[in-house]
Amino acid sequence: MRCSPASPISPATPGPFLGRAVRYLAGEAGVRQFLDIGTGLPTADNTHEIAQRVAPDARVVYVDNDPLVLTHARALLTSTAEGATDYVDSDLHDPATVLREAARTLDLSQPVALTLMQVSGHIADYGEARAIVGALMDALPSGSFLAFNDSVDTNEANAEATRRYNESGAVPYYLRGPAELAGFFDGLELLAPGVVPLNDWRPDPSTPHGGTGEVIAVGGVARKP
Ligand SMILES: C[S@@+](CC[C@H](N)C(=O)[O-])C[C@H]1O[C@@H](n2cnc3c(N)ncnc32)[C@H](O)[C@@H]1O
Repeated sequence: MRCSPASPISPATPGPFLGRAVRYLAGEAGVRQFLDIGTGLPTADNTHEIAQRVAPDARVVYVDNDPLVLTHARALLTSTAEGATDYVDSDLHDPATVLREAARTLDLSQPVALTLMQVSGHIADYGEARAIVGALMDALPSGSFLAFNDSVDTNEANAEATRRYNESGAVPYYLRGPAELAGFFDGLELLAPGVVPLNDWRPDPSTPHGGTGEVIAVGGVARKP
């Protein structure tokens, strides 16, 4: 997934992290339903393509509130016959509506993997961001998962890029500290290796990451007990 033009330059390219997380969730964890909020502009290897490669009957709902993403959403609706995809034009600040719309395609009495990649920074108030993610996870049954990542405020180059982005008048983005980002998993069972730099989350031994060692974003996956 690539950020929509309305979002900051995210050098963190969560694609590989998203890919590894979704492969794990659809594979080992046996999850068949995914709710991808703040999905961004479609590109190669979208969530449903990764999930349905592992489990053709996977059901995936994409959510975003950017009109440009909506325009391109059709590319996200290329599901297998056994599975399903849907696109919901809705605001993360209103989790009740997001869930109501997602329930058109997802059975919310069964486990769902909520994926939030590089979107929590669009919510200005940290407490509100935590409450929104909490409300979404509260509405999902035991055995559901949260796969989450966001950029950290500890990388000067990224902080400068975000400062310039915020000065451009676009939808502001708020970088947070690694401990604050880890807070989104409170009350959930964090999977090993925990909340770590994206390249360090269960890297594919076959694909050496040419990382610079700079930590731009951290992320993790956790199960709802
Ligand atoms: C930085 S991009 C991340 C895109 C993709 N998840 C990725 O990891 O590359 C953030 C996305 O969240 C969307 N977004 C921002 N605020 C939102 C909100 N309140 N409700 C729904 N989507 C939102 C933006 O439109 C954008 O597509």
